[in-house]
Amino acid sequence: MKFFVDTAETADIRELAATGLVDGVTTNPSLIAKSGRDIIEVTKEICDIVEGPVSAEVTATEADEMIVQGKKLVKIADNIAVKVPLTWDGLRACKALSDDGHMVNVTLCFTASQALLAAKAGATFISPFIGRLDDIGLDGMELIADIRQIYDNYGYETEILAASIRTVNHIRDAAKIGADVATMPPSVMKLLSKHPLTDAGLAAFMADWAKTGQAF
Ligand code: E4P
Repeated sequence: MKFFVDTAETADIRELAATGLVDGVTTNPSLIAKSGRDIIEVTKEICDIVEGPVSAEVTATEADEMIVQGKKLVKIADNIAVKVPLTWDGLRACKALSDDGHMVNVTLCFTASQALLAAKAGATFISPFIGRLDDIGLDGMELIADIRQIYDNYGYETEILAASIRTVNHIRDAAKIGADVATMPPSVMKLLSKHPLTDAGLAAFMADWAKTGQAF
């Protein structure tokens, strides 16, 4: 499973990328707004930090304008994936941009039939939003499983990018189902390594080791 970081905060991206465990980054208009930075400038900085795909989202809602924005975004760096919303206009833009050889991430996916449309439109990534479905009492993980089954039935190569992740269990469950990628906030990525028994065990090892007086 590939790990993407879902943020536009370059300090967090730099810190996590140093582990060698970051395969890409996703941003969206809300995350860019939160960073308080210019979209082109911050996206370029992210592309310089991470070699893998960096999703940058269009802000137009009409297909032709999305394509124009997408073409501006892909000029930033070779690893840009243009993010478009799952609307008819977004699907038209996806088809045009992917036909031109660009990576496209179709976002705001909430049903398996939407995901089927994105694959047919040539999406590189489909982003089903797990957390936002869970938030309204639906089952985000069931959506990941449905998309996996449909894509496997027909051999679609569109990668399932599990998004809107809130917990480490979301990542475990998406990995069990076979999502290709999980994009997660930096806080969740950091929590993946945590267990109280790991901390307690390490503290005990260190205390016992100190008693030996050895150094090496
Ligand atoms: C994915 O690409 C989105 O940016 C993101 O996962 C949305 O997450 P949220 O529902 O926590 O805003």
